[in-house]
Amino acid sequence: MPPIMNMDNTQYFVAKTFAGLEPLLADELTALGARNCRILSRSVSFEGDFGLIYKANYFSRFALRVLWRQKSFTFNNNRQFYEQIFDFPAEQFMGMGNTMAVHATNVDSIFKTPLFAAVLAKDAVCDRFRDLFGERPDVDRDDPDVQFHLHIYQNEAQLFLDSSGESLHKRGYKVRNHPAPVNEVVAAAMVKLSGWHGECDFQDPMCGGATILIEAAMQALNIPAGFYRREYGFQRWKNFDAQKWRQIRQSARILDDVDVDFYGSDINNSFLDIARANVSKARLEDFIHMEKRDARQAKPARVPTLVMTNPPYGERLEVEDINEFYSEIGDTLKNNFSGCRAFLISSDMDALKHVGLKPNMKVKLYNGQLECRFVGYDLFSGDRRNYVKHQKES
Ligand SMILES: C[S@@+](CC[C@H](N)C(=O)[O-])C[C@H]1O[C@@H](n2cnc3c(N)ncnc32)[C@H](O)[C@@H]1O
Repeated sequence: MPPIMNMDNTQYFVAKTFAGLEPLLADELTALGARNCRILSRSVSFEGDFGLIYKANYFSRFALRVLWRQKSFTFNNNRQFYEQIFDFPAEQFMGMGNTMAVHATNVDSIFKTPLFAAVLAKDAVCDRFRDLFGERPDVDRDDPDVQFHLHIYQNEAQLFLDSSGESLHKRGYKVRNHPAPVNEVVAAAMVKLSGWHGECDFQDPMCGGATILIEAAMQALNIPAGFYRREYGFQRWKNFDAQKWRQIRQSARILDDVDVDFYGSDINNSFLDIARANVSKARLEDFIHMEKRDARQAKPARVPTLVMTNPPYGERLEVEDINEFYSEIGDTLKNNFSGCRAFLISSDMDALKHVGLKPNMKVKLYNGQLECRFVGYDLFSGDRRNYVKHQKES
């Protein structure tokens, strides 16, 4: 069954992301063919044809989920709200055998809680099915076949279908989890923000589960963000177009090889095992080389190398003296990585000051709920003033 279309086939979507990544996401969506991208809070709204749902889910590195707007309406009481949802032809997307769930956000409306709105909307959909087919569909909050999102602001509601299912940061290459990982979407954004395009080697000396290395290698090899992922919400909709989905996946232009190498190391053998398992799942063993090493002894294989790492925060991994540790990392970068650039992400602002290098880039990012700073350094030998002068002259 075809999706519900406007006369000109233009559909309206919202892609969610982390705070601070909205501009990256808007640029990425525009490159995928989205029109009228508007930056909202932790999301980007955009327009385009139906195929954009598949494209955005498969190619976007910076989206956490993609919502497809089905209707927007105003309401003044529960009855009007219920009727608007009841009128929505949900049977175009789900059959009686499918499960469903409604997630709601609610700001300044007649509803005291989003949960109340979600339950009312769920009842409206179920009642519609009972009237049409004589039975109510089952609700499955954990793994529904069809997930509705309701955004309610004052007396206006927007009803969306969640096309992604599980959050898109779940790329499908993590076979084992590190206890303090950087989110895949954040790691992809860090690589993008660094300006690195695969022109030099890439090294993570505290690689944990290898998230940053895998995201960097995926970008260098042009591997789509969703390449390893098996499931998306839209695949369970009645209108799923398997042929279009195949065409979109086949449009990816993955490179066979790149001229650079990726190096990961960690001090902890069991974390290295996790990294190896993830790299192997991503089939990137030929590109990402790993060894056990203390980051304070790290060196580049070639200069320049881009160093990007997520040192222990103290909050989630115990380090005896975190400030002293960051200071030693700063010394290692300064002494061993002259001619390279380095980027660190940490939620420990105080410890970051102890790195003792002057950052030329500082961005606020969120690793999930955790507010972090992503800082970049140009590494050079000798005096900073001479370096800056030389940079200006050259
Ligand atoms: C925050 S975790 C990195 C998580 C990683 N970015 C990921 O997504 O899985 C920090 C890592 O630093 C490692 N580490 C701590 N001290 C180290 C040291 N002296 N040398 C090398 N690695 C170290 C820890 O073993 C841990 O895996």
